Amino acid sequence: MSLFAIGDLHLHFQSPLRAPGQLKDRAWKNHEARFRKNCAALVREGDTLVLDGDHSWGRNLAECEQDLEYIMSLPGKKVLLRGNHDMFWDAKKTDALNRQFEGRLFFLQNNYFPYRDYAVVGTKGYTFEGPFYLNRRGQVAGWDEKEAGHAEKLVARELERLRASFEAARKDGFGRFVMFLHYPPTSILEKRSGFTDMAEEYGAEQVVYAHCHGASRFHDSILGKMRGVEYRLVSGDYLLWNPERILP
Ligand SMILES: [Fe+2]
Ligand SMILES: [Fe+2]
Repeated sequence: MSLFAIGDLHLHFQSPLRAPGQLKDRAWKNHEARFRKNCAALVREGDTLVLDGDHSWGRNLAECEQDLEYIMSLPGKKVLLRGNHDMFWDAKKTDALNRQFEGRLFFLQNNYFPYRDYAVVGTKGYTFEGPFYLNRRGQVAGWDEKEAGHAEKLVARELERLRASFEAARKDGFGRFVMFLHYPPTSILEKRSGFTDMAEEYGAEQVVYAHCHGASRFHDSILGKMRGVEYRLVSGDYLLWNPERILP
């Protein structure tokens, strides 16, 4: 039995591709077929596969039907996080999604998913992504204050949702945690954030995140061990569509 994770499938079986860059980067060529093959070789029915957000380019549930069918046809139990592109998933309507897909998909939001003696907890997260202003040497010399203020509000809301997830698990007696975010835990300006602080507060053993696409973005945030927590990036193009084993 293993816990696997990967993010950013960005499926578009029945909706237009809304990121033309996806077509140019070789990593995305036939990625649906490659990912399916890699899952078949690695993931067993008793395993759990966490899909770390940005599942579909569809704008609503009807436009995501075939994308969700594809996900349901993968081996293992599927746990989904919200990504910034998952327009089909209104956070407030998570319970309805869990009822609709009961036994087939689990939508992680203000709840948790048990795995052995661990609780899989998480939320979309948020990080400030600029605009940044660079000096002549290419270093960050400033940033858009209005956008930064807006980001602060979104971070606060996501931190509330993350705490709700931790507390739901703790209430049921869980003391070991793997924490998932779709966004990286820190912006490129930070070494710590409300998200890293919360991971440390609850003693999460790992923080797993996605969202970063293309080699130039793979090191935007923390990778490896920091203050006792292991940080891992699992965006699909970073993993070349091989699900990452998070726990045995
Ligand atoms: Fe993405
Ligand atoms: Fe994303």
